[in-house]
Amino acid sequence: VLVTAGPTREPIDPVRYISNRSSGKMGYALAAAAAARGATVTLVTGPTELSSPPRATVVKVETAQEMRQAVLAEFAGADVVIKAAAVADYRPQTAATQKIKKRADNLTLALTKNPDILAELGALKSGQLLVGFAAETEDLLAHAGEKLARKNLDLIVANDVTLAGAGFGADTNIVKLLYPGGRVEELPLMAKEALADVILDKIGDLLAKKH
Ligand code: CTP
Repeated sequence: VLVTAGPTREPIDPVRYISNRSSGKMGYALAAAAAARGATVTLVTGPTELSSPPRATVVKVETAQEMRQAVLAEFAGADVVIKAAAVADYRPQTAATQKIKKRADNLTLALTKNPDILAELGALKSGQLLVGFAAETEDLLAHAGEKLARKNLDLIVANDVTLAGAGFGADTNIVKLLYPGGRVEELPLMAKEALADVILDKIGDLLAKKH
């Protein structure tokens, strides 16, 4: 089982970066729960404050491009891939080699799109079960359903990050599970550890159906 977690950091200069509010808790909970069930787990993680889950191989990365390399290196050997990471969609076009000095009153950063790792895996997949996350602030089902189809996923965990008790940084989450064909399961508020177990149960059901 290959799990990604945490934010990525996209350098602006040697002392600054662009990132997001992901804590990594959901991905770490998934990695720990999969390892506890006996899976061989690789966790590819952006920078977090969390300690490594027991019995998982941990690969630490910073940028989206590094995460892509690490994930692609592990993809062929994986049966299940769970992409809980909050990958930065854009990075500064160039990272300055020296600290940018404070001069002009206004400063514009040019950004360029990062590769969509999950979409790439969806196009490459050959039997792997692919699980994505969707962090949304509006039209949850429409946006998550579109990502499920476009990225060729077997399951997407849709997250309204505006709800109290859900999303970035929280210890709990409130999600809906979407499957190809339009099936939707609504889950109540639960601890991220409990949600990790539910997601792994659903993955188990999907694997059983496959074989
Ligand atoms: N993802 C990825 N690579 C990216 C962006 C996202 O692999 N460059 C993955 C995330 O790990 C997650 C899923 O795609 O599993 C959805 O991420 P999300 O940020 O919700 O969606 P985006 O595709 O980035 O779309 P948008 O930001 O427009 O909502």
